[in-house]
Amino acid sequence: MALTQHLILIGPMGAGKSTIGRLLSEHLATAFVDLDRLIEERAGASIPWIFDIEGEEGFRERETQSLEFILNTPAQIIATGGGCILRPENRQMLATFDLIVYLETSIEQQLERTSKDKNRPLLQTDNPQALLLAMAEIRNPLYQQSARLRVDTNAKPPKLVSHEILNFLDETQNEKLPS
Ligand code: S3P
Repeated sequence: MALTQHLILIGPMGAGKSTIGRLLSEHLATAFVDLDRLIEERAGASIPWIFDIEGEEGFRERETQSLEFILNTPAQIIATGGGCILRPENRQMLATFDLIVYLETSIEQQLERTSKDKNRPLLQTDNPQALLLAMAEIRNPLYQQSARLRVDTNAKPPKLVSHEILNFLDETQNEKLPS
């Protein structure tokens, strides 16, 4: 199956967006881009460095610019950062795409998957659990309203998650075929 438009993964830190994105990329023989890596390439600096020097606001500005850039390229699989849905202008850009998938995960899973990670500046705090909970309260409704498909990734092997997404793709492409 060939992708005719971007397949965009949204969801919180540690939801498995990059892992699932790579699996889908293999399956669909379509390029995969991780928005955080693109931001780093374009800035010539790491995300922790950007947060240190420019603060979260500087990072968010770069995130919006990179999102706009990548959405204007031919169809590919895109993993966004957990905070990408915060800015209304980002949500507006995303709203013009049909294939938006929300990878949902529990706070416990997020903590497990991110515990040793030093590359997520927002998590370098004494109480990451409280922070993730507070973020989830604000962000989960935004993921929900931006997505066409929600997939629970808890206790599910990545292959199964990618299968669910491939089924959704099949259905969506079929919906669009002339009858
Ligand atoms: C962030 C998530 C990160 C990265 C940055 C901020 C967030 O991406 O964009 O550290 O605000 O949730 P991942 O979701 O890929 O970890």
